Amino acid sequence: MSLTRPDLDALPAYVPGRSVPGAIKLASNEVPYGPLPGVVEAVTAAVAGVHRYPDMGVTELRGRLAERLGVDPERIATGCGSVALFEHLFRVTCLPGDEAVYAWRSFEAYPIIGATTAATSVRVPNTVTHGHDLDAMAAAITERTRLVIVCNPNNPTGTAVRKAELDAFLDKVPDNVLVALDEAYREFVTDPAVPDGLVEYGDRPNVVVLRTMSKAWGLAGLRIGYLIGAPAVAAAVRKVITPFSTSLPAQAAALAALAAEPEMLRRVDLVVTERSRVVEAVRKVYPDVPETQANFFWLPLGDRSAEFAAACEQAGVIVRAFQGDGVRVTIGTPSENDAFLSVVL
Ligand SMILES: Cc1ncc(COP(=O)(O)O)c(C=O)c1O
Repeated sequence: MSLTRPDLDALPAYVPGRSVPGAIKLASNEVPYGPLPGVVEAVTAAVAGVHRYPDMGVTELRGRLAERLGVDPERIATGCGSVALFEHLFRVTCLPGDEAVYAWRSFEAYPIIGATTAATSVRVPNTVTHGHDLDAMAAAITERTRLVIVCNPNNPTGTAVRKAELDAFLDKVPDNVLVALDEAYREFVTDPAVPDGLVEYGDRPNVVVLRTMSKAWGLAGLRIGYLIGAPAVAAAVRKVITPFSTSLPAQAAALAALAAEPEMLRRVDLVVTERSRVVEAVRKVYPDVPETQANFFWLPLGDRSAEFAAACEQAGVIVRAFQGDGVRVTIGTPSENDAFLSVVL
């Protein structure tokens, strides 16, 4: 007899990028340069207060984000990573039988969240060039659709949709369907044709933009993400949020990180420069690597993915294989990237 839902057996577990002692980890899309200046001090100071519950309204941080983004704080909700905010979004939009449409392959948390909430997932295959097929996604919207996710740039393929395509797509989405723009990798975007979701679509009531401090801002271990949506959507998310899940050290760290924006931008520049160098080198052997606007790139190796990842591991480099599909490789420091390239070239 099982004490838990029988359908869980069929549910794939979230596979985190592996950490192997002594190995180079290019498997979790982290930025490799340590916490931003001021973060360790802010967290250390905050720890003295951890016998108290944190501010559940996350007032100071929401205020700071609001100022930075030029929106009302009422439009912001923070969460235990943006992954938690996706869980909340599924819960505030979908009743049993309702549908959530997203591209596939995309962020592996979407189907896991979808399967344990009321939603029915509708996965729309990527194009042959590994990007979202926005026409097919628009065609997949039915009367039951409540949530559509556009992951831009897309994890794990790195591809991005451009403004003209997204404009046309959003115009086709009915007003009563919420569109979540997952911009976890926004800071790494260099192509001006890739829209900033908040700037371009922030005034659409059915668009919500999700961002994270885990990647460019270096706070993956503290778990903090945020969304910006219409006040009613943000309020609904804040209502269902796990109470106090944005911890006191996380709030302090996020404030300190935001104060170190110039250093964040400098590190992002290093990553972007390395991205060009590494992708150009890899394409000499694997010309099919799609364009990437994120801090990782995609090797569409199909059935050879696990074998390739094992060869990397032998050389002390951990990458992320999606067997049958491809391998995602995070951009690390120049020497880490060289270690990876020595396996490929
Ligand atoms: C596309 C995408 N969205 C959201 C997240 C969630 O990030 P976090 O929960 O660390 O904020 C990730 C993390 O890998 C991601 O790749």
